[in-house]
Amino acid sequence: MLEIDDLVAGYGATMVIHGLSLRVAARGVTVMLGANGAGKTTLMKTLAGLVAPVRGRLRLMGEDITRVSSDRRVRAGMVLVPEGRMVFPSLSVRENLRLGAINARALPEWRRTLDHVYHVFPRLLERERQQAVTLSGGEQQMLAIGRGLMAKPTLMLLDEPSLGLAPVMSVQIFDLVRRMSSEGLTLLLAEQDVHKSLAVATQAYVVENGRITAEGPAESIAGDARIRQAYLGL
Ligand SMILES: Nc1ncnc2c1ncn2[C@@H]1O[C@H](COP(=O)(O)OP(=O)(O)OP(=O)(O)O)[C@@H](O)[C@H]1O
Ligand SMILES: [Mg+2]
Repeated sequence: MLEIDDLVAGYGATMVIHGLSLRVAARGVTVMLGANGAGKTTLMKTLAGLVAPVRGRLRLMGEDITRVSSDRRVRAGMVLVPEGRMVFPSLSVRENLRLGAINARALPEWRRTLDHVYHVFPRLLERERQQAVTLSGGEQQMLAIGRGLMAKPTLMLLDEPSLGLAPVMSVQIFDLVRRMSSEGLTLLLAEQDVHKSLAVATQAYVVENGRITAEGPAESIAGDARIRQAYLGL
C-alpha cells in the first residue's frame, strides 16, 4: 500500500528523518514505536505532504507521490489524523466532519459518509451541534478520526490517538482501530502505548533518532528481549 524508501526530511537545516525505509501492507495495522522526539510525527507529516523530503521516495499503491500535494494525497486515499487531534475548536462537530469531506473523492457522497461516521460514533451524533471545543479529550479524538473517515480513506495515518486519554477511552480507541482494520482500512499508527498497539498491530517498526532500528511481525517485536526491556519495561 505504502512504500517509504531512504527518506530524509526535517525542518530547515535540521534533519530529523535520516534515511528511513518502511512498508505498510494493505489491510494491516502497521505500528511505529519510538521514544519522544524519535521522528514519528515528522514522518507522518512528510507522508501527508506537510513536510517536503530532502531525499528518498514515497509510493502509494505503486504511484510515486514524493512531490505530490497534500490535497492530491488525500484524493489518492491517504489521510492523516494528526497528533493532538487538531479539530477546529469553534466549529460544530458536524462542521468539523463536513470539512473532512471537502476533497473531490469524498464530497459527492458526504451525507452518506456522515451517516456512517455517526453510526460508528453515536456520541458524535448526540453532540452534532456542539462546538468541538466543548468535547472531552476522548470525544475530540473520535471527532478527529471521524473527520479522517469523512475523506473515505484507504490508508489512515493515525498519530498518537491514545495520548492523554483515560485508560477506558484508550481501550475504546484501540478497539476502533481493530474494527476499522477489519472493515478493510489500512492503518499506520504511531503510539506510545506499546502494549496495546502491539496487540492490534500486524507489523511493527521501532524508530530511534529518525532511523528504523527494529522491524518485524508485531508478535516477534513483542517477544524481542531488547524491545521488551527498552519499551515494555520488562
Ligand atoms: N516544526 C519544527 N521545527 C523544528 N524542529 C521540529 C519541529 N517539529 C519537530 N521538531 C523536532 O524534530 C524532532 C522529532 O520530533 P517529532 O515530533 O517528529 O517526534 P515524535 O517521535 O513524534 O515524538 P513524540 O513521541 O513526542 O510525539 C524533535 O527533536 C523535535 O524537536
Ligand atoms: Mg509525535
